[in-house]
Amino acid sequence: AASAELRELLLGRIRDVPDYPQPGVVFKDITPLLADPAAFGALVDALAALADRHGATKVVGLEARGFILAAPAAARAGIGFVPVRKAGKLPGKTLAQSYELEYGTAEIEVQTDAFAAGDRVLVIDDVLATGGTAEASLELIRRAGATVAGVAVLLELGFLGGRERLAPALDGAPLDTL
Ligand code: PRP
Repeated sequence: AASAELRELLLGRIRDVPDYPQPGVVFKDITPLLADPAAFGALVDALAALADRHGATKVVGLEARGFILAAPAAARAGIGFVPVRKAGKLPGKTLAQSYELEYGTAEIEVQTDAFAAGDRVLVIDDVLATGGTAEASLELIRRAGATVAGVAVLLELGFLGGRERLAPALDGAPLDTL
């Protein structure tokens, strides 16, 4: 749970963009937050503290905006960063997981050798919306032989029910929203 102060700092740097990328959708633009070193630094510190608290030994970032938050958090926590990418972007042997979108399906991948035996993985992304991407990432992490330490996101769009969808895949691991 984030402190009220941190929450105010972060929320004050997220911009609502109406009707983007399509009419009726309000896009959460995090670029003002990224451009503010005090807010971005506080966010990275908070994510690194969660990695610590949950005993993570690796941080996974979800393409693309998840990378921006997960990579510095991993470095700050002193543990490795692993990218989970959209299909076709990673070299070498990969595991793939497809998942349902509102219309159609998507596929994400991780390298088969990304994790060592006993690794505990914290997944970091900017936004939890329907939860489909995060859910698929947890499946991938387990198939790659690692343990899920938790999921941490900057923002949760509660009305889309992502937390409920993700609960079975979390299997008791924490979901933290900053
Ligand atoms: C967004 C967001 C999350 C995902 C959340 O990424 O950054 O990764 O969607 O949606 P969900 O909970 O409904 O799965 P997007 O697919 O737009 O990719 P991008 O970061 O590369 O723009």
